[in-house]
Amino acid sequence: MNSNSKGSNIWGGRFTKSLDPLAVTFNASISFDYKLAYYDIWGSQIHAEMLGKQEIITKKEAEQLISGLEKIKNKVMHGEVIFSNDLEDIHMNIENLLLNEVGDVAKKLHTARSRNDQVALDLRLYLRAEIKEILLLLENSIRSLKFCQQKYVDILLPGYTHLQRAQPIKLENYFGAYISMFSRDLTRLEDCLNRLNFCPLGAGALAGTDLPIDRAYVAEKLQFKGTIENTIDAVSDRDFVMEFLSVSSIIMTHLSRFSEDIIIWASEEFSFVKLDDAFATGSSLMPNKKNPDIPELIRGKCGRVFGNLVGILSVMKALPLGYNKDLQEDKESLFDTVDTIKSCLQIFSPFLTSLSFQVENMQNATKNSFIWATKLLEELVKNKVPFRDAHECIGKIILYCIESNKNFSTLNKKECDLFSPYLYSSILKLSY
Ligand code: ARG
Repeated sequence: MNSNSKGSNIWGGRFTKSLDPLAVTFNASISFDYKLAYYDIWGSQIHAEMLGKQEIITKKEAEQLISGLEKIKNKVMHGEVIFSNDLEDIHMNIENLLLNEVGDVAKKLHTARSRNDQVALDLRLYLRAEIKEILLLLENSIRSLKFCQQKYVDILLPGYTHLQRAQPIKLENYFGAYISMFSRDLTRLEDCLNRLNFCPLGAGALAGTDLPIDRAYVAEKLQFKGTIENTIDAVSDRDFVMEFLSVSSIIMTHLSRFSEDIIIWASEEFSFVKLDDAFATGSSLMPNKKNPDIPELIRGKCGRVFGNLVGILSVMKALPLGYNKDLQEDKESLFDTVDTIKSCLQIFSPFLTSLSFQVENMQNATKNSFIWATKLLEELVKNKVPFRDAHECIGKIILYCIESNKNFSTLNKKECDLFSPYLYSSILKLSY
């Protein structure tokens, strides 16, 4: 980050002193909002085009601004630009670069605009592009789950409630559950995208402008669905950030629950899944270890995404209406969430498809197990035994089995008949 003393003058005439160096550092956001450079430049180019079209500046001036910004964009994209902390944020850095590039005409760029509507625009453009990428990653995750669902057909395993064996389920339905969850996440994210896809530019600081701007033109050129009508709303709210972080938290929760299952299943005690060496790690001390670091990290990264959500909610909750500098605190949590969720989704698919599910162990775990109890109960109900009586009867037979060290399949007809005349034939019907 370059440091120069120009920064103290950017406010124009009202100030008699330059900013204290501590205040410069404290105030600056360029160390993180440089990420918005591309969108800031694009927004400025369209804004300049509109100013020219509306004859607020001349067509020639507009062209000078647009081509100057294009040159800056190329330099930024090639890493040829050093941003300055003294210029506070990405908006003022770009404007200053433009001043150096095209001279005094650059001073016309900010006509009919404030950094308040500018930053709201940049953030929406940034998030819109990122959500589109996240949607693709999510679709890919769903595809990988479907691949597993089709690979493991008709495989029984114990389903768990309270992490106790409950009832037999099919592995394809296990994957199906996550396919359903991620598919809902997809629609949540699309909703978020549709709601944020409106243009705040033209709102100015908060009260719009008397200059004859064309907000609809800018919105259309920036591929928005329309403008944010209320100018105070346009600069004040960050509900699109809160919504994205909420949806992200839900996605992370789903990823984390799946990860948790894999971590448990990969334990020697369960042995329902084998980790691929390409996605597992060893111990620096214990030669025997093979650790599920990837799902553990996905589970762990939930913490920062949830923290980011709570962070932005706390920033927003007591802000008086209008822009407040607190809103600068929206960015790091948003950027971190985008990066985190992308990295988790990127690894999820190759990790998932690398796993070898130990179908024999799964199926063995359903044999000679009381997880068939509910099926037996329902067989009795089919024979018109009242539900509560059937429940009691199967409960008693399980107790009998535990005490006599037996399971359903080792009971003989005589034993069964002591409990219910329908029991033995029901046991014979079980499909394990
Ligand atoms: N860096 C600021 C932010 O991120 C830009 C807007 C500044 N606006 C202002 N009135 N100081 O929110």
